[in-house]
Amino acid sequence: MCGIIGYIGSGDAQRVIISGLKRMEYRGYDSSGIALLTDKGLEVRKKAGKLANLEAELESSPVGASTHGIGHTRWATHGGPTDMNAHPHLGSTGRVALVHNGIIENYASLRAELADAGVVFASQTDSEIVAHLVETKILAGSTLLQAMRTTVGRLQGAFTLVAIDTDEPGTVVAARRSSPLVVGVGKGENFLASDVASFIEYTREAIELGQDQIVEMTADSITVTNFDGTQAEVRPYHIDWDLSAAEKGGYDWFMRKEIFEQPRAVADTLRGRINDNRELILDEIRIDAATLRSIDKIIIVACGTAYHAGLIGKYAIEHWTRIPVEVEIASEFRYRDPIISPTTLVVTISQSGETADTLMAIRHAREQHAKVISICNTNGSTIPRESDAVIYTHAGPEIGVASTKGFTTQLIACYLLGLYLAQVRGTKFGDEVLALIEELEALPAKMDEVLDDLSVTLSLAKEMTEERSFLFLGRHVGYPVALEGALKLKEISYLHAEGFPAGELKHGPIALVDQDLPIFIVVPPQGRDQLHDKVLSNIEEVRARGARTIVLAEKGDHEAEQYASTLISLPVVPTLFQPVLAILPLQAFSCELATLRGCDVDQPRNLAKSVTVE
Ligand code: AGP
Repeated sequence: MCGIIGYIGSGDAQRVIISGLKRMEYRGYDSSGIALLTDKGLEVRKKAGKLANLEAELESSPVGASTHGIGHTRWATHGGPTDMNAHPHLGSTGRVALVHNGIIENYASLRAELADAGVVFASQTDSEIVAHLVETKILAGSTLLQAMRTTVGRLQGAFTLVAIDTDEPGTVVAARRSSPLVVGVGKGENFLASDVASFIEYTREAIELGQDQIVEMTADSITVTNFDGTQAEVRPYHIDWDLSAAEKGGYDWFMRKEIFEQPRAVADTLRGRINDNRELILDEIRIDAATLRSIDKIIIVACGTAYHAGLIGKYAIEHWTRIPVEVEIASEFRYRDPIISPTTLVVTISQSGETADTLMAIRHAREQHAKVISICNTNGSTIPRESDAVIYTHAGPEIGVASTKGFTTQLIACYLLGLYLAQVRGTKFGDEVLALIEELEALPAKMDEVLDDLSVTLSLAKEMTEERSFLFLGRHVGYPVALEGALKLKEISYLHAEGFPAGELKHGPIALVDQDLPIFIVVPPQGRDQLHDKVLSNIEEVRARGARTIVLAEKGDHEAEQYASTLISLPVVPTLFQPVLAILPLQAFSCELATLRGCDVDQPRNLAKSVTVE
C-alpha cells in the first residue's frame, strides 16, 4: 500500500516530508512525489522509481522554502509506475494537490463524467479523478474542507486522501475510509500520515482517525468530523514504540504484521470486482470472451507458495468451468515438453512478478502460442508485462520473505478467475456466480474471527520448541494447505516438515510416524460426501501409532474433536474456500515457533524474497 504524509508548521516542510517518506520505504513502492506551497504557489515534483530519483529531481530543480506540503510513495494499482502516475495529483488549474492511498471502485463512471465536462487527464490513475472533483468544488466556491466532504460522498471503495489548496496556505485536509491515517500532534506543527513511523522522530503524540472521518489541520489546530459533518470521537494516544517497531505497526516481525493484514488484503483484492450490472469484472483481462470460450486446457505455473495456491485454484476452476487444469512447478514446466496449443490458457501466479522460473515458463508458453494470464501482486513488474492479461492481488507490499497475505490473495484471484471463466463460458449462471462472490466477500470477517483467537495455536508453539519434525496432512483442497503449512514451518524455523495427501500416508510415509510425532491435519467441512470421514480414518491411522494430532476442523465438528490431541476450530465456509481460513493458524504457528527458536522470521537464512535467477 502507499505511504502518505502531510505537514504544516514552522519547520522545513521538504525535509520533514522526504524524511517521512524514507521512513515508509519499507512498505515497498514504485514511485514518489511531493507538493509544497511556496511563495511561487504550489510546486510539485514526482518521479518513478526510488526516492533517490525524487531527491535528485529536487536537487536539479529545487523548490522554494515551504512550511506546508504533502508527500506520497506509490504502490501502483491502477496505472503503471510512471512519473505521471506518481502522486501528488493536481486539478486542471493546478490549484489543488492531492495524494491517495486505496482503490476508488467507481472511478470509471467518475472519470467519464469529468471527461464529459471537459477535464483532460494527465495520468491513468483512479486518484487523479479525486483531485479534479475536489478542485471543481473549490472553484465553485467551497472551502477545501467543504470540497473534500462533498467529494468523499461520491466515492466508493477504500481511500485515504490528503489535499492542500494554494488559496488556503494554512490548512491540510484529509479523509479516511478503510485505509490507515493517523495524525501526529506536534507543538506549533502537525502531521498526517499513513504510518506513525513517518513522524515519530518529531512527536509521539498521535490521534488515530476512525472510519469515514475528515480532519482539517493547521499548525495549531486539529478538527475531526464525520463525513456527515457531525463532531467525531477521536482517540489520542502516546506512541511508545521504537522506530523499528513503528515500521512494523507494533508487531515484532513484518511476517506477523502481514498475517494480520490478510483480512484487509483479501477484502481489497475482492473490491471493485462487481460492476453496476452485478457482473464479475477482472483487472485488465484483455482476452476476449470468444477466446476464453475456446480454451480447452489450463496449465497453472508457479513456484513455492504460489504453486500451492495454484493447486487449490485447480480444484475450484475445474469444478466451476469443467476445463481440465494442470498445475506445474515453473522450473519443471518447459523441460517436460508440455503439450500446448493456441487453445491452452497458461495461468502464472507470482507475488513479486519477477521470479525467473515463472518468467521463463511464460516465454516458453507464448512461443507455443498459448494465451497467458498472470496473477500478480506487483503492478508493473516483468511477469504481468510479458502476459496477455493480469489479475492483480491488492495485498500491498509483502516484506516478509515467507509469503502469507500473498498466498491468501492468490487464492482469491484463482477463485475470481474460475468464476469469471464460468460466467463467460456459461457453466455457471449469473446468480450462482454472485452467490459464490458473496461467500468470498464474507471471508475477511471469518479470517478476523480466526486471527482474533490464536491462543491454542500460540501455546502449541510454546510446547513444541524442542520438536524436530512435523507432518501436515489434508485431502482435496486441504492437501495444498498441508504443503503450504509445511513450507512455512521449514522456511522460517529450519525444521523438517512435510505435507502429504492424507490418503497417501499408508503408502510409505506412515513409517515416519512415531510416538508423539506432531501431525497437523486439515479436516474438510462436514457433509462433503465421504471426504470428511476418510480424513477421520486417516487420523485414526496415525493416532494408533502414537502421533500427536493437531486437528483443524470447522466449528461444530464434534466427530473430529474425538480424534484431536489439540483442536483448532475454524468458522464454517464452503469446502473450496476453507484453505483461506485453514492456513491462518499454520502461518501463525510457524511464525511463533520460529520466533521462540530465535530465528530471523523476516529474513530466513538462504532465502530471498524474489528469486530472480533460474
Ligand atoms: C514463500 O513463502 C516463499 N517465499 C517462496 O516459495 C515464494 O512463494 C516463491 O519463491 C514464489 O515467489 P513469487 O510468488 O514472487 O513468484
